[in-house]
Amino acid sequence: MSDLAFRNARIVLGDEIIDGSLAIANGSISDIAAGASALGDDLDGDYLIAGLVELHTDHLENHYRPRPMVFWDPMAALHAHDAQIAGSGITTVFDAVRIGSDTDMPDMAPHVGKLTGAIAAASAAGWLRAEHFVHLRCELPSHDVIGQFETYATLPLTRLASMMDHTPGQRQFRSLDAYKSFYQTGRTAEELERYIADRMDDHARYSAPHRTHIAGRARELGLALASHDDASIEQVEQSVQDGVAIAEFPTTLEAAAAAHDAGLAILMGAPNVVRGKSHSGNISATDLVRAGLLDVLSSDYVPFALLQAAFALPQRLEGFTLPAALAMVSGNPARAAGLDDRGEIAPGKRADLVRVRLVGDIPVVRGVWRQGQRVS
Ligand SMILES: [Fe+2]
Repeated sequence: MSDLAFRNARIVLGDEIIDGSLAIANGSISDIAAGASALGDDLDGDYLIAGLVELHTDHLENHYRPRPMVFWDPMAALHAHDAQIAGSGITTVFDAVRIGSDTDMPDMAPHVGKLTGAIAAASAAGWLRAEHFVHLRCELPSHDVIGQFETYATLPLTRLASMMDHTPGQRQFRSLDAYKSFYQTGRTAEELERYIADRMDDHARYSAPHRTHIAGRARELGLALASHDDASIEQVEQSVQDGVAIAEFPTTLEAAAAAHDAGLAILMGAPNVVRGKSHSGNISATDLVRAGLLDVLSSDYVPFALLQAAFALPQRLEGFTLPAALAMVSGNPARAAGLDDRGEIAPGKRADLVRVRLVGDIPVVRGVWRQGQRVS
């Protein structure tokens, strides 16, 4: 006996699309059948896809700090973020919470506490539409990143840590000119030079020992570990040595190819796919898909981009299928983060489902279910 059923749906499975029906029992998918059925809600020929899995969104932070000097109530920010996430078809989200203070954010610790506290309280109370986990974005050159890591890495909802280093002249910003145009807002040329010099000093002093500490502790704690903005083969080799499973935003083709050869899951931004280029002038995610080097897409700074990119890729790349594109936003990120109960429409998997109709180029979300419960 099913709790809920859908019929007349275009169901996207792991490697094919069928027109048929799907039944849910006890929050899991219990049956999938091709062809007409008299049972269940009529989905009017819309797509039914697996709920999206998002590993790296900074959108919670953007709701919490909507302007540089404005801090919103963390619980209100979380609910606004959660509604947008679920409304974008995302049923599992790893909220990126940056740890480590710098001159822009001289005391990060209380902010991290408020955000992770809100996620834990709202999750425990069952208030959230999507299932939320914490992704600690560890800024390695920060003087206090280790203390914050030790405080928040052991929270039950913390499942993923990434090691970042946004020092000018490195990784994401190998070109100092690109760095200057990204960070110059509100600074005079002199202030910017001073800021860059301070950043380089912090890098020289802290990055290497902090990397060793965090990689070691992540392994002990069983956290999935990600590298960030690997630009060279040497940096990929370091990531492999650190036990990294996910290479976030490799910035060059050679780094992406090396990470792929080493068996790392390569993650790139969905906005990069939607826009056709990187916002900081690095490699195009679509080119990586073309080269067979991309495993995971992340919505990064636009939640809706995840679904949009997955539907755009098969339209842009001949021979690239919708099941393959959707795997990059559901099954692949689920596996990379160690979640094997979701990410695919298959019997026994969680009934995390999204009803989608393609209107022109835009995949319109018409319904979202998490473990068989309607959440959007
Ligand atoms: Fe970055």
